[in-house]
Amino acid sequence: MSQEIQADADLRAADIEAVIVPFRGRNGMLIPLLQKMQERFGYVPPESIGPIAKALDVFPVEIYGILTFYAQFCLEPRGRHTIRVCQGTACYIMGGKDLLDHVQGKLGIQVEQTTPDRRFTLERVACLGCCGMAPVVMVDNDFYGRCTPAKMDEVLELYK
Ligand code: FES
Repeated sequence: MSQEIQADADLRAADIEAVIVPFRGRNGMLIPLLQKMQERFGYVPPESIGPIAKALDVFPVEIYGILTFYAQFCLEPRGRHTIRVCQGTACYIMGGKDLLDHVQGKLGIQVEQTTPDRRFTLERVACLGCCGMAPVVMVDNDFYGRCTPAKMDEVLELYK
């Protein structure tokens, strides 16, 4: 490992430790700690799982389970905006599959990937609870109903 890479790893380890310190030994604070970690880095660095497990005396698999169960957490850097294309039954039969294909083609990425410029991360979701507006897309906290590929092109332009 070069000195530069080692220095980056040391800095990152120090940043991770700084997030953990206020929570050390505080059982029941796992989710708040994970939220702080996500706030600090924009995602939960996988290398933080071991130190968190040690600090709170929990099994690493418990942390991994939480991180992969709750959609609010992610283990990889994300784009500035998250696009969630609904693939629930109502949306799927109203064109959601074609919409997802269109967005993937437009952005040049697949589901769970981030564009190279880190502008967008694309996700598939089961139901956004607005089935009457199908097909539905959510960008960050904004909902767009009765989406078409042309409308989606316009929506994407709103997020720079
Ligand atoms: S199926 Fe898409 S909002 Fe319910």
